[in-house]
Amino acid sequence: MRDFIFQCVGCGRRYMPGEIEYTCPECGPVRGTLDVVYQRPATLIDPYAPGLFRYRNLPFQAKDAGLHVPVGWTPLIDAPRLASRLGVRRLFLKDETRNPSGSMKDRATVLALARARAMDAPVIAAASTGNAASSLSVLAAAAGMQAVIFCPRSVPRAKLAQMLLFGARVVRVAGNYDQAFDLCAAAVERFGWYSRNTATNPFLAEGKKTAALEIAEQLGFGDIAGVAVGVGDGCVFGAQYKGFAELYEWGFIRRMPRLFGVQARGAAPLVQAFEAGADLVTPMVPDTFADSISVGVPRDQVKALRAARRSDGAFVAVSDDEIRAAMGLLAREGGVFAEPAGAAGFAGLVRLADQGRLQADGTYVAIVTGNGLKDIEGVMSAVGQAPVDVQPDVDMDSLAGVLKDLVSQV
Ligand SMILES: Cc1ncc(COP(=O)(O)O)c(C=O)c1O
Ligand SMILES: [Zn+2]
Repeated sequence: MRDFIFQCVGCGRRYMPGEIEYTCPECGPVRGTLDVVYQRPATLIDPYAPGLFRYRNLPFQAKDAGLHVPVGWTPLIDAPRLASRLGVRRLFLKDETRNPSGSMKDRATVLALARARAMDAPVIAAASTGNAASSLSVLAAAAGMQAVIFCPRSVPRAKLAQMLLFGARVVRVAGNYDQAFDLCAAAVERFGWYSRNTATNPFLAEGKKTAALEIAEQLGFGDIAGVAVGVGDGCVFGAQYKGFAELYEWGFIRRMPRLFGVQARGAAPLVQAFEAGADLVTPMVPDTFADSISVGVPRDQVKALRAARRSDGAFVAVSDDEIRAAMGLLAREGGVFAEPAGAAGFAGLVRLADQGRLQADGTYVAIVTGNGLKDIEGVMSAVGQAPVDVQPDVDMDSLAGVLKDLVSQV
């Protein structure tokens, strides 16, 4: 463990590690989420440390997590065809689908595992729409720890398959994510498990912020005009702000990127709060096919709103069809297979470009947070064509007939 303190985002009170574990007792679990605060490290990078542990502004080191599965240091993919579609100088895709469980959540899970190990906690629990749960299942198995998952009934089968195969105990709640979250929080309290619940666990954002650190490093610490990512609870988004803000305050980058949080229109409480200038959201009943961001009560709303406001960014709402179109473009012109929530960030950039809100000479990044294989139903709803069905003895002329409008060389 390295030196750090906690600071409440609501009241600014500072706490020593050990004094509290999850949220500020004065401000409660919504207003009182915690930042992990460090001194500026003399050097930012340890080039020999595996994956995301290359950064020294983290509470734990690789050895604390006890994992032999590398997490982070994912590719930043240059996407010139998509850049020209957006009318910007450069667009990069941060391909988080390459993490061990196929989503960005692995970044958070490794730090939670390190903390649970330090506390000698054998059981670690999480409520999740799927990715945090599959991440916890995969990495807890690798670390030899037991995972207990609370997920909503609607969890996609592929994510459920990951959880079950890796040995997690899965409690499927006949309700939505928000209800699963509350049930998990009560169980954690009752049974004394370590909680990997988003927002209330301050270390999760520390893991997720490493995507921002990597993006900055992979672009040579040069100027970035904007970064967009899909938003459900707001933890991923708030964490990108934390990562870039540390680099900016410590002088590693000269300019803070504008951060764009993208929500599905049917689950957009943060968009509403941002536009209304409110400091808390009005809960809504979520309705979107992008299950990973189908959240009506964002748990990390305070940090999320802070991220958009302090970075001169914005929250953007996109329709499910805009997300479907973005999935197709990312696949065909970007080379990345995204699940619906994973494509939301790019969908937001498309919308901002259409509104003339992107800088033509700017460099932009869309974070692709989760793999398309996790939600095949969602992907199938986005494909624009059906397979061509033929018999094995079809003659070549007939085959040419069906393919002539589909393939350029027939
Ligand atoms: C693929 C994917 N994208 C985006 C998000 C949004 O993250 P957050 O809930 O921290 O806003 C999630 C969260 O589950 C996710 O799984
Ligand atoms: Zn407080």
